[in-house]
Amino acid sequence: MSDHLTDIQTLRDRARANIEQGPVTDAYGADRERVIAVLNEALATEIVCYLRYKRHYFMASGINSGNAAAEFLEHATQELGHADQLAVRITQLQGEPNFDPDGLTDRSHAEYVEGKSLEDMIREDLVAERIAIESYQEIVRWLGTSDSTTRRLFEEILAVEEEHADDLLDLLTNT
Ligand SMILES: [Fe+2]
Ligand SMILES: [Fe+2]
Repeated sequence: MSDHLTDIQTLRDRARANIEQGPVTDAYGADRERVIAVLNEALATEIVCYLRYKRHYFMASGINSGNAAAEFLEHATQELGHADQLAVRITQLQGEPNFDPDGLTDRSHAEYVEGKSLEDMIREDLVAERIAIESYQEIVRWLGTSDSTTRRLFEEILAVEEEHADDLLDLLTNT
């Protein structure tokens, strides 16, 4: 057996000793407080994106928007799902998800822009997606192998944000 691997009994004992910390074990390589803070910023980003897409959905529903309203609604639902996934991970790390509406847009990476015309809305959503994509890519690189579960979560969300950006680019060229 390799010297580098902790024997199974030691691992079991340690898991039991730290049971109140849930899945955060001694092998957890990341700075937990900072990871929770980063997760909370992403949570704020997803909530802001959800709100912006909901606004755009209702505004676009009244005008001849083609596929845009349906896309806005679909994206809104997915952003809310991302918010939930991030909140779950925060609680797994024994942190507290921050849903405080005060300071929400300050914590968020992306902005809440209402947009005047349909084209404005699509463009603002695309800008927001590109910001989210950039910051999530950065987070993925920062996490590296120190917390692979959180990194995988960001990779999963990142893939969906890239789809969103792609959808918006299609809408923009067809509007
Ligand atoms: Fe999202
Ligand atoms: Fe998105």
